[in-house]
Amino acid sequence: MGDMHATAVTPTPLGSPLGSPLRAQFPILAQRINGLPLVYLDNAATTQMPLAVLDAMRQFETSTRANIHRGVHTLSQRATDAFENAREAVKRFVGASPAHELVFTSGTTEAVNLVAQGLAHGLDGRVGAIGPGDEIIVSGLEHHANLVPWQQAAQRSGATLRILLPDAQGQLHADDLARLLSPRTRVFALTAGANASGERPPFEALLALAHAAGAITVLDAAQAVAHSALHMDTLACDFMAFSAHKMYGPMGMGALVGRRTALERLTPLRFGGDMVQSVSYQGAVFAELPARLEGGTPHVSGAVGMAAAGGFIASIGHHAIEAHLADLRQHAVRGLQQIDGVTVLSAQTPASAIVSFVVQGVHPHDIGTLLDARGIAVRSGYHCAQPLLDYLGTGPTTRASLAVYNTHDEVEQLLGGVSHAIGVLR
Ligand SMILES: Cc1ncc(COP(=O)(O)O)c(C=O)c1O
Repeated sequence: MGDMHATAVTPTPLGSPLGSPLRAQFPILAQRINGLPLVYLDNAATTQMPLAVLDAMRQFETSTRANIHRGVHTLSQRATDAFENAREAVKRFVGASPAHELVFTSGTTEAVNLVAQGLAHGLDGRVGAIGPGDEIIVSGLEHHANLVPWQQAAQRSGATLRILLPDAQGQLHADDLARLLSPRTRVFALTAGANASGERPPFEALLALAHAAGAITVLDAAQAVAHSALHMDTLACDFMAFSAHKMYGPMGMGALVGRRTALERLTPLRFGGDMVQSVSYQGAVFAELPARLEGGTPHVSGAVGMAAAGGFIASIGHHAIEAHLADLRQHAVRGLQQIDGVTVLSAQTPASAIVSFVVQGVHPHDIGTLLDARGIAVRSGYHCAQPLLDYLGTGPTTRASLAVYNTHDEVEQLLGGVSHAIGVLR
């Protein structure tokens, strides 16, 4: 059966600096997959890196590479400067104030684990910041990375885990949170963008509510940091976690930004070199922040790349990025909704780059496989958010996710590919 989708819903805006004009900066996109031009729509899993990021990392590795903080030799000092300058750049990128500090991690997963385990465990025999009878509230939209660490923290500390469930449309509501908050609430953890549904919760208001109730607030910004301007200095947020590889930077790199006073409450995840001030055979005095939470040799070129990625995003501007992605998303959502049997999750959510959908009677893995045969990369499955998709009753979905280099032509190819797949599979 031929493609059922025929007409473009949204015209390509004339003169838009995003989409096609940016593609020359992403060499990986200029390839064919299964004989056809790659249409890369798996950006919520990992975005591609522009030349500016690749060049910055290559420059570091070929001219400055040495271990940091420990050497008096020139190269080590230059590498230390590169690492610390990257820290300052990423802090500026997320609007951190002098009251904040940034700890480099391997990604969002490590950053959330650092907070959850760091609050649950006491240091040197002291009790942790979460204890028996305390309550932890986690939203029902979360990626496993912002749920499982809290399950573990609750189990280890004797706290109770409560879930802020969404409504049937996958939306979170402040009055539901108000009902869950209690004097025993120690932590409220929330995503700035749900990776499985594309929902963009009112995280600013929800964080403010929890903060006012005395909870430590944790924002998983993995799906927001590449598109939306996030200002730590104005958010009621104690900790924010994000990954470089979802913001046009390298894999295996991320950050935890937090209020200094909040970071000081964390027990380190990793004990060892570089996080200590002095050590005897029997004990150790730990270094000040941020080193205290960064044991071992860090991914220095990753930090350099992450800072360059922030610079790349800033050079385009958050407003332009959000407008481009909203335009593409609307095109994709409207087009998919015209195809018989397709339901798009969180279709009306504002400012999202994720289009997650189910097709009646067709398994997402089959759609993903047939799209791949056309060079179109999407993701199928539970997207590491199984509780949400089970709760909403959709089961696994097909997820197309957008980035600055995607075009309306690619959205058309997605729509044509989905129509074709459904025709073959039904
Ligand atoms: C919302 C969200 N949180 C956390 C993660 C985990 O990120 P990482 O694998 O980079 O640690 C992801 C990855 O998909 C995500 O989408």
